[in-house]
Amino acid sequence: MAQFWKPGADKPRILEDEDGGVVFVSAALSSAPTSGFGYANIDKQRQRLPIYKYRNAILYLVETHATTIIVGETGSGKTTQIPQFLKEAGWAEGGRVIACTQPRRLAVQAVASRVAEELGVRLGEDVGYTIRFEDLTTSDVTKIKFLTDGVLIREMMEDPLLTKYSVIMVDEAHERSISTDVVLGLLKKIQRRRPELRLIISSATIEAKSMAAFFLDRKGRQRVETHESGPSKEPAILSVEGRGFNVRIHYVVEAVADYVQAAVSTVLAINDQEPAGDILVFLTGEDDIGVAVSLLTEEAQANGNKSSGLIVFPLYSGLPRAEQDLVFSPTPRGKRKVIISTNIAETSLTLEGIVYVVDSGFSKQRFYNPISDIENLVVAPISKASARQRAGRAGRVRPGKCYRLYTEEHFINEMSAEGIPEIQRSNLVSCVIQIKALGIDNILGFGWLASPAPETMIRALEVLYSLGVLDDDAKLTSPVGFQVAEIPLEPMISKMILSSNQLGCSEEIITIAAILSLQSIWVSSRGAYKELDEAKMRFAAAEGDHVTFLNVYQGFLESGKSSQWCHKNFVNYHAMKKAVEIREQLRRIALRLGITLKSCERDTEVVRKAVTAGFFANACRLDVYSHNGMYKTIRGSQEVHIHPSSVLFRVNPKWVIYHSIVLTDRQYMRNVMTIDPSWLTDVAPHFYQHQ
Ligand code: CDP
Ligand code: MG
Repeated sequence: MAQFWKPGADKPRILEDEDGGVVFVSAALSSAPTSGFGYANIDKQRQRLPIYKYRNAILYLVETHATTIIVGETGSGKTTQIPQFLKEAGWAEGGRVIACTQPRRLAVQAVASRVAEELGVRLGEDVGYTIRFEDLTTSDVTKIKFLTDGVLIREMMEDPLLTKYSVIMVDEAHERSISTDVVLGLLKKIQRRRPELRLIISSATIEAKSMAAFFLDRKGRQRVETHESGPSKEPAILSVEGRGFNVRIHYVVEAVADYVQAAVSTVLAINDQEPAGDILVFLTGEDDIGVAVSLLTEEAQANGNKSSGLIVFPLYSGLPRAEQDLVFSPTPRGKRKVIISTNIAETSLTLEGIVYVVDSGFSKQRFYNPISDIENLVVAPISKASARQRAGRAGRVRPGKCYRLYTEEHFINEMSAEGIPEIQRSNLVSCVIQIKALGIDNILGFGWLASPAPETMIRALEVLYSLGVLDDDAKLTSPVGFQVAEIPLEPMISKMILSSNQLGCSEEIITIAAILSLQSIWVSSRGAYKELDEAKMRFAAAEGDHVTFLNVYQGFLESGKSSQWCHKNFVNYHAMKKAVEIREQLRRIALRLGITLKSCERDTEVVRKAVTAGFFANACRLDVYSHNGMYKTIRGSQEVHIHPSSVLFRVNPKWVIYHSIVLTDRQYMRNVMTIDPSWLTDVAPHFYQHQ
């Protein structure tokens, strides 16, 4: 490894270089409680966490301040401990609930089950969680509730002031997901109406001062001066001192051509040359993680003794629960665990025993261009802040090492200091409808933490108008607008479901909606591209992927939901089971909205018309002169191609509609369906009036 790697000149103790200007509240303020609770073993573990010393300081600040901002490095105990401290201090008494939000579903599940275990209670009772399509809480029983920030926004539609919560902790605020930004804006408004509500904003790294400034508006301050009682409106800032070990950074000397291959070689080299300790590898998504896992597993088998100590686990958001649990299980003696993860392991999850980190320097990010009206999912360089977080994961148990698969020069010159908030690089159709549904009409004046681009707003309003969701005054239409907002899916899918009612194909469309909300129903090919393609052809419909999904779903049901059937056909069993579950929930929602459940008995034309009623904005026409299957979007004249995973790849019908775009070497359309162009002007005359 010596010639490959060069140690970085970056400060080795990377865990100390954050916190510019954060007010530090001394640990002397707090004294640890003496009474014991729960299991002795877990109790000891809890007391060893850095956050423990701050228990009383945190409780004091929450008592006396409307908003408390807590910064502490990953693993210090913020997510698992703070809700428990609050419960112990009585914040969950009298039927009140303590909420803790996370941007990621998988993190919600993992921390909720950890906290239930620490408290010795069954998950779903005192400690529960809610993510989209999965509610594991019991009303009047659950005291600590973990949920995604997206679900919290949905709850505001039912209960605008979130009255059941006494404290809401917005965790992982530095991630700056769209929903986090929206939640913060909304909570700030709620706080004015509910002075007794307490907010905690917590994260691993955060611009604590700018966050505090956001919560401190002048009106609030004036009120503090006139009111004598009640919590201070001025946010408190608490910095939790961590105790991470040194992490030595190594860079590659020359840029690597293939980061997956480089990651695999690095893991093998660590295994050969470095003492015991688990390895965490950061790649970008299910696909490249799948490739790396199979390369390493093959290597471990082929090499007999040499690499046989490696146990390799993938970690990404769509992973089934059973496989998630394996990642957190202790490493057997004499073995070395290798976890290959997306940036979910950057700050949202704590993995014990990691000593080596391999950082590809990339993550999958959304980028939206309002001019072309295309939102791409792109593998793009991470920020310096992310790179530091990733490296920090190596220093939890003892001094560690981080191998960056990029040059030091790249780190210094090419990587931005901080990432761009998601709200400034995403399509805002979903976001706008949610805010409108909460009765907030002035979207531009919403009071954003970071303002989205006006062009993106205008695009979103235009699409929502064409969907029939907003009227001429940009207010939600009744009933369509309210119904679309009520379905917990992207508005285009919701509209497709509503249209299926008139077209008499709701049973089919609900199946398609359920499958479109999953990542993929095919297993990653693991090198067997030919077999996967052949399997797909057994289900392929000339009309495209949406109708193909109906064939697969039908086959799955006819097999008696058999896992062998899935295995034989390269269909992802867990995804299909999830599809059945989601479908069931969508059926219930549809019934509630007064949709008649009806099958069109495989009349694929009405099915495609219903899809078009939702996705007309994603229509494309084949460029017949291009000879390489190039399409142009109708609205923005953008060049796009059919993704190789589509059943229409190389078929190239003249007119298509896509569900989403991914950018690799080209802009690829995923989930593609043929249409008749006359349907476009039928369903969206306003949108296509200039064509
Ligand atoms: O939120 P923060 O990153 O500050 O830490 P945390 O998630 O509350 O984790 C605190 C500690 O709980 C970790 O150091 C782990 O020891 C433990 N933990 C665990 O063992 N399993 C989990 N699923 C979550 C946390
Ligand atoms: Mg956490």
